[in-house]
Amino acid sequence: MSVTAQDVEAAAGRLEGVVGRTPLHRSPRLSALTGLDVWLKREDLQDVRSYKARGAYNLVVQLSKAERSAGVTCASAGNHAQGVAFACSRTGVRARIHLPRTTPRQKRERIAALGGQFVDVVVDGDTYDDAAALSHAYALSSGATPVPAFDDVRTIAGQGTVAAEVLDQLPATPDAIVVPVGGGGLLAGVLALLAERSPGTRVLAAEPAGAASMAAALDAGGPVDLPDLDGFIDGAAVRRVGSETYAAADRGRPTMLAVPEGLVCVEMLDLYQSDGIIAEPAGALAPAALRLSAPLGLAPGSTVVCVLSGGNNDVSRYAEVVERALVHEGLKHYFLVDFPQEPGALRRFLDEVLGPDDDITLFEYVKRSNRETGPALVGVELQRREDYAPLMRRMADSALRVELVEPTSPLFRFVQ
Ligand SMILES: Cc1ncc(COP(=O)(O)O)c(C=O)c1O
Repeated sequence: MSVTAQDVEAAAGRLEGVVGRTPLHRSPRLSALTGLDVWLKREDLQDVRSYKARGAYNLVVQLSKAERSAGVTCASAGNHAQGVAFACSRTGVRARIHLPRTTPRQKRERIAALGGQFVDVVVDGDTYDDAAALSHAYALSSGATPVPAFDDVRTIAGQGTVAAEVLDQLPATPDAIVVPVGGGGLLAGVLALLAERSPGTRVLAAEPAGAASMAAALDAGGPVDLPDLDGFIDGAAVRRVGSETYAAADRGRPTMLAVPEGLVCVEMLDLYQSDGIIAEPAGALAPAALRLSAPLGLAPGSTVVCVLSGGNNDVSRYAEVVERALVHEGLKHYFLVDFPQEPGALRRFLDEVLGPDDDITLFEYVKRSNRETGPALVGVELQRREDYAPLMRRMADSALRVELVEPTSPLFRFVQ
């Protein structure tokens, strides 16, 4: 049975006074950049720093007495686990949360702190799939209720409350809402509410370009496994969407947008540096989608709400975020340079090939036994995108053999 606007509104009633109503802030920066009237729904300001407490709480609070006493279980490496821990500490229901061993210590500690005495955190298994299998086995042996991260009508109705708040908070009906998509729980809930309460509002669904599993499902006529997955946008990198969430997307037919991971990094840095907002990669997906060069079909001045879905970013990730943003903007390039077996070759490269503002950010001889000569991996950062063509011209004119390492090349993985 599909989720209705009434289900979402009933969920909103259950959440009242427990799960925070987050602010809706206008973004002068994104409005100026896009010519639209852009608003950010600040789910990063939830207690658990993402919207995930909504769906988890809406599910757990509806369990029967018998189900409550048998407890719940889930597997997650991130925000869903925090949502479940929060829901269980508020309802007094015990949870066993399975985390893969790769989960950073900071996340384990946050999940344990949110859940307090009600949550057992089990760290086992090498991958998320291993943790999910352990959680599944535990549910079968103990009778605990699984709490799905997206493919459950109670989870979906809870996530949909984001859109109910937006309609309440915005003075006029929004022309469009941009929603990030992983397994599709938030998207399904938003579509359910808007179809009945604001059918004129368009829904734009933003997926990571390297994990566009909802677009793949809509193309195939049902959920399919993506053969390859870029895991960088961890919250939204889902190999296969759910059957409930797929059905909702199939009914609602949102505009699907594939957002390159590098563009998400560009937006994460602008959020951080210009707006003072810490967004995790999945949290920045929706605002990043407004920066796509492809036309979005929105008239100038349209009112657009982006769901900034989460802010659990580990500070150690920013180095990679900066790197990916520079590459995406065409400001950072990598080359394999074959230096001839003669003295002074490196000096000539510096003098003749590099421009006055170009910077070497990486220099590594590929053959350790052959220092000073032989091929080297060289990273060059430019001040301006226009500096690229002259750099390439000087490389072509030099006597050196130079090969550009394309971001799509397997070698590129070693430099990021
Ligand atoms: C911050 C954030 N945004 C978006 C998503 C995608 O969620 P959904 O599975 O509801 O599509 C997630 C999922 O964990 C998330 O943590």
